[in-house]
Amino acid sequence: MSADARLVVISNRVAVPKARGAAGAQGGLAGALHSALKDRSGLWFGWSGEESESGRTGNVSTQTSDGVTTATIDLSERDVEEYYNGYANSTLWPLFHYRLDLAQYERETGKGYERVNERFAELVSPLIEEDDLVWVHDYHLVPLGERLRSRGLKNRIGFFLHIPWPATRLFVSLPYHERLVRTMLHYDLIGFQTKEWLDSFLHYCRTELGAEVDEETGSVTLDGRTTTARAYPIGIDWDHFSALGETKDAWEAEQRLATSTRDRTAMIGVDRLDYSKGLPERLDGISRFFDKNPERTRDLVFVQIAPPSREDVDSYQAIRATLEQKAGQINGARSEVDLVPVRYVNRGYSHSELFGFFRASKIGLVTPLRDGMNLVAKEYIAAQDPEDPGVLILSRFAGAAAQMEDALLVNPHSPDDLAHAIKTALDMPRDERKARYEKLIATVRDDNVQDWTKTFLEDLDRVVEY
Ligand code: G6P
Repeated sequence: MSADARLVVISNRVAVPKARGAAGAQGGLAGALHSALKDRSGLWFGWSGEESESGRTGNVSTQTSDGVTTATIDLSERDVEEYYNGYANSTLWPLFHYRLDLAQYERETGKGYERVNERFAELVSPLIEEDDLVWVHDYHLVPLGERLRSRGLKNRIGFFLHIPWPATRLFVSLPYHERLVRTMLHYDLIGFQTKEWLDSFLHYCRTELGAEVDEETGSVTLDGRTTTARAYPIGIDWDHFSALGETKDAWEAEQRLATSTRDRTAMIGVDRLDYSKGLPERLDGISRFFDKNPERTRDLVFVQIAPPSREDVDSYQAIRATLEQKAGQINGARSEVDLVPVRYVNRGYSHSELFGFFRASKIGLVTPLRDGMNLVAKEYIAAQDPEDPGVLILSRFAGAAAQMEDALLVNPHSPDDLAHAIKTALDMPRDERKARYEKLIATVRDDNVQDWTKTFLEDLDRVVEY
């Protein structure tokens, strides 16, 4: 098998050509996968995002553009409820983000998850050819490799988990956890965002499954089968993102924010409206900053962009209500006729506009309680003016913190820590901002998503013949 074997990518969501360019969930990843797929005349398979009964009949809709074929299926209402809203986003997502309090364990949704994974296997396997490299993405599709193997597929199959892998003592609270992980061992290569998540996975395999684990090479052997697990920190599409700085949309967005904040420092957060992003805790930190430094109220405007996400899941509705209340309280207590300290915006923007907003903001606030990587942290740095860069305040619990130690690292659970970091950022002299920026930009530029794709696929190509 050669490095230019055809590539088949399978993920829950697929960036169909007409949807590219919007500030969507997949951002740089969609672009990078697209270029890897283009180089290898590849195929991208997944859910269309639509609900219809045609999912049952096995209707695969394909379109080819730019040498890449996308093949999508609809899911039925029940599938979406049990697989996507249910097991993926009400069980695995909270558990993997350390929110045991929000994780729900329902046998029915677990069955729906297995059923949809089986449906994916059934519909994608006829499209896979003998020498194809197959790359499955994220927590929606953990058992897919095993389902494909049960259909006789002998291809090299890789899996990448975009979210954290929890510590063993949390993970064992998942009913049938063993079954889920055993299915994973049918992949040839398993990628994690950081060494921390990788170590947790290897620890689980060793202590709970009794697998033979080589921590050096990442090989895991169980029942005579060996798989390899490694860390591959994802990056942004540097070339594409940095070029957005030249666009009219970026320039206009920068002017728009700069003009409206006038002589105040703009501080920005951009996150899907998700409880893992630490948004209420962030507002508590900002409130603490204003309480402790009342004389600085007129110095700072906080802009939080938070497009709604997974709105059919209860915990996502709850977070929305909490945030509206907290933002309202801060503004209620501190607004003046010409000053609203917090601008809370419930919509998404294009990547070009975000570039402009990042550039106009002298502080970037990225404070998830737990995050696989967090590419907003990297995009914020990529958008800065090298001669007068802003300061990134970053949660130590984001995967990105392992590579971005020159940001101001904070504990997002501590309002005092956040308040202190905001003050430090506001007062940081240009020399220090530049020194930090120069170290950060090197990793953002060099550890980019093209490099990530290439390294993962080269390793997948190299792993032992199945
Ligand atoms: C995270 C996940 C992705 C997911 C994205 C948006 O980044 O790792 O797999 O696509 O969130 O969430 P959504 O539920 O809208 O696809």
